[in-house]
Amino acid sequence: MTITRPATSAASTKLKANDPCWCGSGKKFKRCHKAASDRIVAGRVSPRRAVPPEIEAPPWAVTGGSSNRAEAHVKSPDVIDRMRRTGRAAGDLLALVGAAVEPGITTDELDAICHQGAIDLGGYPSPLNYSGFPKSICTSINEVICHGIPDDRPLADGDIVNLDVTLYREGVHGDTNATFFVGEVDPESQRLVRVTRESLERGIAAVRPGRPISDIGRAIQAYAEGAGFGVVRSFIGHGIGETFHTDLAIPHYFDPRASMLLVPGMVFTIEPMITAGDWRHRMWDDDWTAVTADGRRTAQFEHTLLVTADGVDILTLRADGQWSGDGA
Ligand code: MF3
Ligand code: CO
Ligand code: CO
Repeated sequence: MTITRPATSAASTKLKANDPCWCGSGKKFKRCHKAASDRIVAGRVSPRRAVPPEIEAPPWAVTGGSSNRAEAHVKSPDVIDRMRRTGRAAGDLLALVGAAVEPGITTDELDAICHQGAIDLGGYPSPLNYSGFPKSICTSINEVICHGIPDDRPLADGDIVNLDVTLYREGVHGDTNATFFVGEVDPESQRLVRVTRESLERGIAAVRPGRPISDIGRAIQAYAEGAGFGVVRSFIGHGIGETFHTDLAIPHYFDPRASMLLVPGMVFTIEPMITAGDWRHRMWDDDWTAVTADGRRTAQFEHTLLVTADGVDILTLRADGQWSGDGA
């Protein structure tokens, strides 16, 4: 079969990033059709990695299902204790995998590090077989918004890559992610990543008992859109505990329906996905990989959080209070 190369790809070989785009929009090529000409494509996914039988696994390790979404929003002191320990370990796991990011490493190699790292911590990598997800970490490069599947694509100098790790240990989940630079990254991508990390910080700062959940998204949206970026609507933060995703919904944009009040003992994630261009997404036909419809870049950061009597505790910081996202 002959494959015709799209005109955009032929044009892109002649144009430099700052040239006017071939389409006549008057915009710079890099601001217009360039992203569409070098999009991420699916690679080869390696066979499923095994977990030793002595590791306590969630039900989906066997069933390939998801979790029971109805779990109390406010956790018992016992669940909170376990979530503090698992959250810290998830922060350690993110740091372990993040330290391996460099040009040339494949996302499958990062998956192997996450998988073995989870086991070494005495836990199960929650994504593995969750609703059939085939790997132990989500790796989302450039225009991939979330849920990228690790494969044999080597990271390239100039990429940005989000690593989303979730650890299941002591019967509870800890969920955290950060976006990392691969080699030398262009200034506008650096600004996107920094604003995204700061959007998470703004969201966390808005968490106060007695205030509605919608305060979180209001703070994030005002900050990210003020910087000229978009806020993804289709993927949101979630309640978490003995369940990976409970039905507690944490939008990252202002949604007046999120009127439930924050209460001490609630545990949930905040995980804004911020886009350089339009926030709308497309799904790959693997039914997991969500990409920006316009092909422009997107970044994400995530913490698991506990509402306290006077504010919030971040459960996915490391024991020394550090976190992989701090560098961005
Ligand atoms: N860690 C993701 C989140 O932040 C969920 C990944 S689900 C998976 O909610 F199946 F893709 F792993
Ligand atoms: Co999450
Ligand atoms: Co996550």
